[in-house]
Amino acid sequence: MKATIALLPGDGIGPEVIDAGARVLETVATQGGHELALSRWPIGGEALRAGDPPLPESTRAACVAADAVLLGAVGDPAFDHGPSEGRPETALLALRRELGVFANLRPAKVWPGLEDGGSLKPDLVRGLDMLIVRELTGGIYYGEPRGRTDDDQAAFNTMRYSRPEIERIVVVAFEAARQRKGLVTSVDKANVLETSRLWREVATEVGERYPDVRLEHQYVDSCALLMVSNPQKFDVVVAGNLFGDILSDEAGAVVGSLGLLPSASVGGSGGLFEPVHGSAPDIAGQDKANPVAAIASAAMLLRHALGAENEARAIERAIGETLAAGLRTADLAGGAGSALSCTEMTDAVVERLRL
Ligand code: NAD
Ligand code: IPM
Ligand code: MN
Repeated sequence: MKATIALLPGDGIGPEVIDAGARVLETVATQGGHELALSRWPIGGEALRAGDPPLPESTRAACVAADAVLLGAVGDPAFDHGPSEGRPETALLALRRELGVFANLRPAKVWPGLEDGGSLKPDLVRGLDMLIVRELTGGIYYGEPRGRTDDDQAAFNTMRYSRPEIERIVVVAFEAARQRKGLVTSVDKANVLETSRLWREVATEVGERYPDVRLEHQYVDSCALLMVSNPQKFDVVVAGNLFGDILSDEAGAVVGSLGLLPSASVGGSGGLFEPVHGSAPDIAGQDKANPVAAIASAAMLLRHALGAENEARAIERAIGETLAAGLRTADLAGGAGSALSCTEMTDAVVERLRL
C-alpha cells in the first residue's frame, strides 16, 4: 500500500497525541512494507501565531491532495476572543466543509478492563459498544444568517437542514446499523424545532427502506439522560451537528475518558480523522494526555480511507492488550501514582503492535 497522509498536530495536546498516532502509523508501515508518506502542516492557533490565517492555503491544499488527514486538536485560550475568522476552531469547520466530510463516525465502546474507569457503575457499561453518527457539515454550525445586530445588543445563528442533507447522514446510520445490532436511534428536538420535525420525517422515510433495521426517535434531552441511565440500549445514534457534538462528549464520560474516543469524518474526498477531544489546555505540554483516541483515529484512517482493515484491527488489538494489561494514563488512573505518560502509553501500544 502507498498513501500520503497529512498530519495536522494543531494546538495544546494536539502535537503530543499526533506524535503518538504518527509513531503507530510508521510502525504499521514498517511491519507491513507499506509506503506511508507523512507530512506535518500548521493549523489553528499554531498558524495564527505564525501570522497566517487559521487554515493556511498550503495546509488546505495539502489536505485536499492527501489520501487522508489526521488531526490532533485546535483551540487556544489566547485566541478565544474576537470574530470567528481569527479563531482556531474556524479552520476545522472550514476544512470539514472543504473536504465534504459530512458523516462523522464516533464509536464509543468500553474496553475490557475499563468497566470501572468511567462515571457510571460497571454493570451499566460492561460491553457497551455504540456508534454516534454526527452530521458534520451543516446545521447551526454553518447556517446563515449569523452574526450580531448593528447595535451589538443581540446575536443570532440559523439552524437549517435540507432533506438531502438529512437523508444522506441517516442512510449512513442505517447502513452502519445493518452491520451491527440493527437499531438506529434518531435524535432530534421535534417537539420544538422545525428542523427537527423535518429530520424526523426524513429519518422515518429512510427507515421504510430498511425493514431489517429498527428505528427509534429520541428527543435530545431525554437521549442525554438515557446515555447515562441506560447507555446499553443504544446501537447507532444519529444526530445533527450540534446535538451530536454534545452527546459524543457525554459518551466520553460513559466509557471512561474523552481521551479514548476516536472519530472518522467521511463521505467526501479522502477523509479527516481526529480524536473527539480538544486541545486540553489544562494538561498541554506535560506529556500527560491519553494518546488512545488519536491512535484509534489512526486505525480508523487505515480502515476508512485506505481500506486497510487488517492494519486497523492490529492497532485496535494492541490498544486492547495495553489496557487489559492495566496500563493507564492519568485520566484513567484515578489519581494513582503509577500513571503512564503519553509517550510511555504510546510505547506500550507500539510494543504490542503485530500485523
Ligand atoms: P477538551 O476536550 O480539550 O478537554 C476537556 C477535558 O478533557 C479537560 O479536562 C481535558 O484535560 C480532558 N481531556 C481531553 N482530552 C484528553 C486526553 N487525550 N487525555 C486526557 N485528558 C483529556 O475540551 P475543552 O477544554 O472544552 O476545549 C479546549 C479547547 O479545545 C477549546 O479551544 C475548544 O474549542 C477546542 N476543541 C477542539 C476540538 C477539536 O479540535 N476537534 C474538539 C473539542 C474542543
Ligand atoms: C469537536 C469540537 C469541534 C466541534 C469544535 C472545536 C469546532 O468540539 O470536534 O467535537 O464542535 O465540532
Ligand atoms: Mn466537541
